[in-house]
Amino acid sequence: MRRLLVTGGAGFIGANFVRYWAGKYPDDQIVVLDALTYAGNMANLQGLDEFAGFEFVHGDIADQKLVTSLLVDQKLDTIVHFAAESHVDRSIHEPDAFIRTNVNGTHNLLRVAREVWLNRDDAPPSHLFHHVSTDEVYGTLGPDDPAFTEKTPYAPNSPYAASKAASDHLVRSYHHTFGLRVTTSNCSNNYGPYQFPEKLIPLMIVNALTGKTLPVYGDGSNIRDWLYVEDHCRGIDLVISRGKAGETYNLGGNNEHANIDIVREICARTDTLFAERPELAVAFPDAPAATGKPTESLVSFVKDRLGHDWRYAIDATKSTNELGYLPTEDFDSGLGQTIDWMLSNEAWWRAVMDGSYRAWLERNYA
Ligand code: NAD
Ligand code: TYD
Repeated sequence: MRRLLVTGGAGFIGANFVRYWAGKYPDDQIVVLDALTYAGNMANLQGLDEFAGFEFVHGDIADQKLVTSLLVDQKLDTIVHFAAESHVDRSIHEPDAFIRTNVNGTHNLLRVAREVWLNRDDAPPSHLFHHVSTDEVYGTLGPDDPAFTEKTPYAPNSPYAASKAASDHLVRSYHHTFGLRVTTSNCSNNYGPYQFPEKLIPLMIVNALTGKTLPVYGDGSNIRDWLYVEDHCRGIDLVISRGKAGETYNLGGNNEHANIDIVREICARTDTLFAERPELAVAFPDAPAATGKPTESLVSFVKDRLGHDWRYAIDATKSTNELGYLPTEDFDSGLGQTIDWMLSNEAWWRAVMDGSYRAWLERNYA
């Protein structure tokens, strides 16, 4: 039985992970520590309070006293570290928060873990610090370059990627220098339920439904390797259960697509769904598809992102060979499930986008 501290568990991947873990390991204890920034959302964790081992703590990973008391008082033996500032565009406009949370916050978790797990007599018999990172630390690829392996040199290009690279190095150093048991996974772009509609796929779905522009950066040729979030959660489970301390593991989706192809696919599917389900035109009257116009009419090629990485692709051979990792969701069905989820959860995305969720948060978590 594990006793987990899941940081950032109210965010997109963290919440999916908590749901996955609670379903698979119902006897485990899960303490979520989340600062509830704009990206954190208690609605993502709805229903989990029925799970006996679940607890939510509103707080900051940079709070040394709080993290120490959680690890000591609850005898936690595993940290799964998701908490981060995660959006590249925000890191271009306001990089400070990325350094504070991704670098200093991660360092605070490491030093507390070291103090509690390595230096105290009442430390749990075993421990693991699992760090969730990104393929963006490896930089950008050309069309014919081989995909990133764990041995690809780091070459982060955005403040976000640089802050994640710094955190990866700190995690590695706490293993090498102090003997903390750590693992790191570097994954490709995730998509699926509960993703904040500032990232490409949920933003395009929401804008298609509400009749807003679909802003494609540059010429739309940039390529990402899309990983369904549940496959990512399974991959992290494998790293935690079977990974070797001090090692890093790449987790990808074997699913490379150009942005413009994804946007066009979302448009085509929206048109088909509206044609098949007349109730959608009533629910989303501002969608072009509600009046039979092609959703693609909303596409607008806009100024490119500064320093925009052209291509990411993950080579997950090591994770496959050593852990048995294989993504199971194909993009066709994964995208379909994501669109269905957004259609069925209008209240969720309207609340996170129009700010009414923030008001609720301030009332309940001031
Ligand atoms: P997210 O932005 O949806 O969620 C981040 C969560 O962290 C939020 O709940 C937020 O409230 C919380 N948080 C932020 N600062 C905090 C702090 N100082 N203390 C405590 N909590 C804090 O992010 P996500 O997309 O779920 O990503 C999770 C992790 O996975 C991140 O580390 C990210 O770098 C990594 N990652 C994400 C992707 C992706 O495609 N989304 C891809 C590769 C790696
Ligand atoms: P994003 O979801 O922000 O993830 P990341 O930057 O971490 O890869 O963006 C995915 C790709 O989509 C990236 O190449 C930028 C592009 N993009 C757009 O073209 N328009 C948008 O509105 C957004 C948010 C992203």
